[in-house]
Amino acid sequence: MDKDMVLENQHNNDSDEWIQCTKSLWDGRKIDVIKRIISIFTNPDEVVLDPFMGTGSTLLAANVLDRKAIGFEINEKYISVADEKLKRYKDSYYIICDSCINISKYLYEESVDLCITSLPYWKIPNKFNSTNRKHNDYTLLMKNIGNTNSYTSYLKNLSKVFLGVYEVLKPDKMCIVIVTDRRKRNKFYPIHMDLTNVMAETGFILEDLMIWDRSKEHSILKVIDNACVYKSVIVHEYICVFRK
Ligand SMILES: C[S@@+](CC[C@H](N)C(=O)[O-])C[C@H]1O[C@@H](n2cnc3c(N)ncnc32)[C@H](O)[C@@H]1O
Repeated sequence: MDKDMVLENQHNNDSDEWIQCTKSLWDGRKIDVIKRIISIFTNPDEVVLDPFMGTGSTLLAANVLDRKAIGFEINEKYISVADEKLKRYKDSYYIICDSCINISKYLYEESVDLCITSLPYWKIPNKFNSTNRKHNDYTLLMKNIGNTNSYTSYLKNLSKVFLGVYEVLKPDKMCIVIVTDRRKRNKFYPIHMDLTNVMAETGFILEDLMIWDRSKEHSILKVIDNACVYKSVIVHEYICVFRK
């Protein structure tokens, strides 16, 4: 069945759910949000890629929906957790234990139908100082895209990753990035905006932007340092939809 037919069926059979999907404000659990994205943008048997796989939520959602899935992850502990979650789908997923900067070394050009991922946070430098050099997992720390000395090099690393994603995505297909802005040491980092510029340089077009309301997960709100100056507490993420 082609995608227009799937959407058409969804529209006819399940119109309430479909109408909910078309609203720009989303809520719900992470796994449900990922499933919703995968069912909107792919058909069964198509290939879904998560370059920052973590413990495998994207791969699980894809497999449950009869899609094939590929994940990149540098942390072997997370890979073991993912393998455990995914054991009943053993022929439908593939995990590569390497940096996703190397995506194009592993995957053919134009072989992926959808990329969906949540970005690793940029770790502010004091968390990545000389004591970390003695850390057993120093190589792992170095490979983590979030561990850079500056926000600018974090964005440059992301640009390298998404250049690879661009190569392996089929023409016209989507790359969905779930991202939250951050406030650190009194400075605000509008990551979703900066990412949009990075993606544009790579060749992606920003096609849509939804807001994922996660306020229900933040029942206890912290008072922010200087109460005299208004600063919002970030309880949402952006679902950025880029098209190749
Ligand atoms: C925000 S988590 C991803 C969450 C995941 N998408 C999920 O839904 O469960 C970011 C992950 O990216 C991984 N990571 C960081 N740098 C990486 C790199 N260069 N290549 C592959 N994975 C990386 C981290 O180990 C971490 O597990």
